[in-house]
Amino acid sequence: MSVKISPSILGGSFSNIERIILDLNQSKAEYIHFDVMDGDFVPNLTFGPKFISNVRKFSNKVFDVHLMINRVEKFLDDYIRAGSDIITFHIEINEGIENIIKKIKAQGIKCGLAIKPKTSWSEIQPYLKHIDQVIIMTVEPGFGGQEFMNDQVDKIKNISNYIKLNNLKVSIEIDGGINFETGKTCVEAGANILVAGSFLFNQGNLITATNTLSDKFN
Ligand code: DX5
Ligand code: ZN
Repeated sequence: MSVKISPSILGGSFSNIERIILDLNQSKAEYIHFDVMDGDFVPNLTFGPKFISNVRKFSNKVFDVHLMINRVEKFLDDYIRAGSDIITFHIEINEGIENIIKKIKAQGIKCGLAIKPKTSWSEIQPYLKHIDQVIIMTVEPGFGGQEFMNDQVDKIKNISNYIKLNNLKVSIEIDGGINFETGKTCVEAGANILVAGSFLFNQGNLITATNTLSDKFN
């Protein structure tokens, strides 16, 4: 089974975005991870749909958009029009989850649900048959460069077992604190997509760092 790498541009400087995307285009990463934050669902702000749509012009990679926002429904069409290939939103928001899933899928793009560390995996279980991917957070969402939370590994195993037992086609993406070692732990627990931010950007050469992480699991 192959493991996909989804580099998180949050690990780099946005002033350098064109260079970053052109480098990632040349790398073995299949996805590019976009962390959208609204300063409300999480205590940090990043960018909105205009940024994603501008970046879209530089790349044909899969745009893996992680919405850490409230009011998903209000802004959903903007993120779809911006060129997202996969939109993942959080199970913890106070909106109708099923309705948003339907709206995303009706546009012919993939839909994911993300789960914060303190939320029990059983919350997401009823939705697994309707979605394409789950993002299991292994840090508190909001910032890059945090330490991987080992106590989330059982959640990965539980969700992976449920997916296998029920023959579902749902990818398991892990987000937060990924490096060689924690990535290995996650893959062994059932993950097939790894988000990595600071680990890739802190190594000097983004292309080499991304390819080395990919080669480790493929
Ligand atoms: C955190 C974001 C992550 C972040 C990961 O809220 O969802 O995608 O960029 O960064 P690292 O890999 O540095 O933990
Ligand atoms: Zn993310």
